[in-house]
Amino acid sequence: MSSASSQEPFSAEAYFASQSPPANLADDLQRVKEFIAKHRDAGRRVVLITSGGTTVPLEMNVVRFLDNFSAGTRGATSAEYFLKAGYAVIFMHRQFSLQPFSRHYSHSTHPFLDFLEVHPSSAPDATIADTEVKVTQRVVPALLPILDAYKRTMSEGLLHMLTFVTVDDYLYLLRGVSKEMGVLGRNGMLYLAAAVSDFFLPRNKMSEHKIQSGKGSLIIEMDQVPKVLKPVVAEWAREGFVVSFKLETDAALLVPKAQAALERYGHQVVIGNDLQTRNRPTSTSTKRGEGFETAWLRIDPALTTPGAGAGGREVKEIEEDIVKELEGRHGRWIERG
Ligand code: PMT
Repeated sequence: MSSASSQEPFSAEAYFASQSPPANLADDLQRVKEFIAKHRDAGRRVVLITSGGTTVPLEMNVVRFLDNFSAGTRGATSAEYFLKAGYAVIFMHRQFSLQPFSRHYSHSTHPFLDFLEVHPSSAPDATIADTEVKVTQRVVPALLPILDAYKRTMSEGLLHMLTFVTVDDYLYLLRGVSKEMGVLGRNGMLYLAAAVSDFFLPRNKMSEHKIQSGKGSLIIEMDQVPKVLKPVVAEWAREGFVVSFKLETDAALLVPKAQAALERYGHQVVIGNDLQTRNRPTSTSTKRGEGFETAWLRIDPALTTPGAGAGGREVKEIEEDIVKELEGRHGRWIERG
């Protein structure tokens, strides 16, 4: 697979002209429109959170694809704190990645079956209908606030779910939802935590059927996905408060890369995270006049012990501080008009 192409990168328009939209795009956007209108009328702030990784199919009848790393932890966790802060949330996530609330009981860290107890009835004529299944008492203190927040969120209609799988799904949805958010004016925020593919295979270069093996190595030349932050800021969500993420594996690159992105796209905040320590120190960079302001958010590593949480004691999550910081900045930005 070649690492770079000499071809001109696709512009966003050329990308959309070459790639097909997801089948349910119009219905998805209609529901988003209704959700936004409801919360705009209530004077509520709305945040679009993108979360999880996008895939790039290698065949039309897809058997193989390239994936981008992201479990969806950052997005799902942040969604809960945005809800707590009074935002309505559009949670646009990779299908089957972590979701707000249910993330506490993910099958890999806290399988919910481990939290259940069976109480058979001792009556002589008891049937299976008389058997009770209860939540183990030891998990109740941790479960109750999560369940409470979940029920309240759902009954008040504060969370709207949207799913994507491929980078095409993601980009079509992002464009559509960003444009719908225009009616919110400055009350809208875009929090772009998804890990988006940088390279793709245009439909006209794709094999229709499964690529056959047995002919030696496979060489695929991929094209560059346009950096959509540019149209997001300049066209699709001109009034929105836009927060992008920068993921690096060399922590020394975080701040310069974040500043370069602010310079290039002119949006409000870049959150920098290092792959190895992304649950701990995180930087936020903002443009201030001619210069930049960078703040570091850090939490005590002792408060992030893996394995605690759902069934045990509460853990401190960096997203709590990220969202608090952003809520304040968004508020000041709205006031400045
Ligand atoms: O889900 P977790 O496992 O908790 O992981 C969270 C995370 C590490 C994935 C998340 O915190 C994060 O850093 N997400 C952004 C990762 C990323 O795609 O970085 P990037 O350097 O490739 O892109 C930077 C920004 O450009 C992103 O905000 C992205 O939305 C945007 N982008 C990317 C590609 C593209 N074609 N167009 C874009 O606009």
